[in-house]
Amino acid sequence: MTQELWSTVDDYLTTTLSPDDPALEAARRRSDDAGLPPIAVAPNQGKLLHLLAKLAGARRILEVGTLGGYSTIWLARALPPGGELITLEFDPKHAEVARENLAAAGVGDRVDIRLGAAADTLPTLDGTFEFVFVDADKVNNPTYFTEALRLTKPGSVIVVDNVVRGGAVADASTTDPAILGIRRMNELIAAEPRVDATSLQTVGGKGYDGLTIALVVG
Ligand code: SAH
Ligand code: DHB
Ligand code: MG
Repeated sequence: MTQELWSTVDDYLTTTLSPDDPALEAARRRSDDAGLPPIAVAPNQGKLLHLLAKLAGARRILEVGTLGGYSTIWLARALPPGGELITLEFDPKHAEVARENLAAAGVGDRVDIRLGAAADTLPTLDGTFEFVFVDADKVNNPTYFTEALRLTKPGSVIVVDNVVRGGAVADASTTDPAILGIRRMNELIAAEPRVDATSLQTVGGKGYDGLTIALVVG
């Protein structure tokens, strides 16, 4: 089983069940054209985020790591009228591309892009979010998860992207700071009575990685 097969199946599943519409396609193309790295979630993962945010009944959504706003569009579309999404990004160029993409997708009015290092911005946020998507630098995942917990309530859902990294997460002797960030976050989650969580390995067009889904319970 190879990347080629995973991509073929992902293409089939995506085409059949969760195709990009013109706004999502345009967002991907504009991001590519602007030279942003091709690391947005896959279409079927974007749809998963959208469904989870809806299941959580999210009126306020927090995203850590905007890139060109591809996942942001999926999430913003899960909001009810009057809902809002705050997304954190430290690269001004990424934020600028995202602003264009969000406006073109018709969700610019619901989305607030906060420029800066997420670890600096998160402590300035308050109120409650019913859905949080953590998808920025992996080194700071423990901080992002702790802040996500502060900003949520029982019933909120926290999703973390890229938690398997080709299997590297299981290497107990790793010295890679990104992998250590994921492993330390897992230890935090495991010791945290206020969340119930699971991690899933995923394969597809984005390679071999994984997602953590945590439900805030207390
Ligand atoms: N969620 C996006 C992909 C995000 S890629 C999608 O699926 O469409 C990760 C993003 O996090 C990049 O744009 C990167 O610039 C940003 N980032 C990295 N380190 C950051 C930090 N410390 N604070 C805020 N954003 C950061
Ligand atoms: C990287 C970051 C991501 O958020 C992702 O989904 C894939 C790759 C990266 O930094 O390499
Ligand atoms: Mg990611």
